[in-house]
Amino acid sequence: STQTNFDMVLFGATGDLAMRKLLPCLYQAHVAGLLHPEGRILGVSRSELDRAGFLEKVESSAKIHVKQHFSDGQWASFIRRLDYLTVDVTRAEDFTALGEMVKARQQTENIVVYLSTAPKFFAQACANLAAVGLNADNVRVVLEKPLGTDLQSSREINTDVARYFKEEQIYRIDHYLGKESLQNLLALRFANVMFEPLWNNQYIESVQLTIAEQLGVEERGEFYDITGALRDMVQNHLMQMLCMTAMEKPASLDADDVRDEKVKVIKALKPLTAESVNELVVRGQYTADKGMNGYLQEKDVPAGSFTETYVAIKAEIDNARWAGVPFYLRTGKRMAGKVAEIVLNFRKLDTLIFDGSQAAPNRLVIELQPEESVRLYTQVKTPGAGNRVELTALSVNMGKEIAGRRQEAYERLLLDVINGKLALFNRRDELEAAWEYVMPILDNWATSTQAPHGYAAHSWGPEAARELLARDGHRWHEEQ
Ligand code: BG6
Repeated sequence: STQTNFDMVLFGATGDLAMRKLLPCLYQAHVAGLLHPEGRILGVSRSELDRAGFLEKVESSAKIHVKQHFSDGQWASFIRRLDYLTVDVTRAEDFTALGEMVKARQQTENIVVYLSTAPKFFAQACANLAAVGLNADNVRVVLEKPLGTDLQSSREINTDVARYFKEEQIYRIDHYLGKESLQNLLALRFANVMFEPLWNNQYIESVQLTIAEQLGVEERGEFYDITGALRDMVQNHLMQMLCMTAMEKPASLDADDVRDEKVKVIKALKPLTAESVNELVVRGQYTADKGMNGYLQEKDVPAGSFTETYVAIKAEIDNARWAGVPFYLRTGKRMAGKVAEIVLNFRKLDTLIFDGSQAAPNRLVIELQPEESVRLYTQVKTPGAGNRVELTALSVNMGKEIAGRRQEAYERLLLDVINGKLALFNRRDELEAAWEYVMPILDNWATSTQAPHGYAAHSWGPEAARELLARDGHRWHEEQ
């Protein structure tokens, strides 16, 4: 067969991510025939379970998250790949059994260790893996976000992991990179003649990157309150969207060529300072409205918390292509809609020869979700005797119009790990550069006595974020 054989050791196997995403996505790959028939998944966690007990949990918690092509027969054959071992990452002796179990399989070519645990355990887990030889060249380690809580802790984690694994063995996940529509951006930009020549400050006036969610913090209050939107979404997902939008054409689509270009974008970001944060960054928090709780009323959120559920940033990239073009980034929970999109606003053209002469500028909208679409807003003539023009979208909905099964982000990424493809994972320097960029914001907020700007649940965010753009004569996309 053409698939690569593998043993996957899944730490945190009884956790939320494993049940909601990792196992359902592995099932999906199994059904599509993308997993080697001998490939095995060994769930490990602290829970005292045997294989049967683990399978019961998978049955009750993972199966319901399978989105496509569910069949009892396929499920039963998928389940045969699963096994379970109780391992406490802090107990070196537990790893002896783990090492033996992996060796007993005698498939030593390709071992994937997925650490879906809190990052504070990464260092110890890696040390214990190394002690039983599970850091040899045939082992890859996957690190789930958040990788640290600031630049320093992120550096420490990376340094610890680097004691046991080489950089090319380390797969730092940002699931946004697994999204088909974000990868499509590279095709759009570099496989078409008409976009790239305009993709610069001469023709583009401003760029907006949005990840809006309708959900609140749900059951994650405890985690969320010490995390906040800046660490949860901006440092990683929004930064990756920014990189894919702004980067130069890489020499190839190989891992280091792509990552070299992404790092350059992050490093070219105009650094924020303690003072400029007050001007260029908006911290928001949702308030009760439409029968919904405000953030401060959510479960496990401490009274008076300043944790942000919304962030907007005016960023600038100081390079030849982008100097002078504002990049407006924003993300929030409990917003009016669920949408992730990239909007490029082109410069205004002189349309005086047309009646009215108020023609709106062109706009390119790349929607990542809920739909995967590209819409190019173009002026066309209004039918009839006059010479008016109006804006209309040339649009393609990739999900509906392009044939082929679309993989969920985690499925694509898990397969890439199994096949040793690093391009869609973060390199150390890239991740640390992204932390470096957000540090002045974290520092400013850590000492600020100014409460976050409130915004009503299911609205488009705080008034201050509207003002951030209004100062430059711009508006957020939903108001354009
Ligand atoms: C995760 C965040 O990384 O991304 C969550 O921790 C967030 O808070 C999620 O809800 C959003 O991912 P997606 O793919 O649903 O946009």
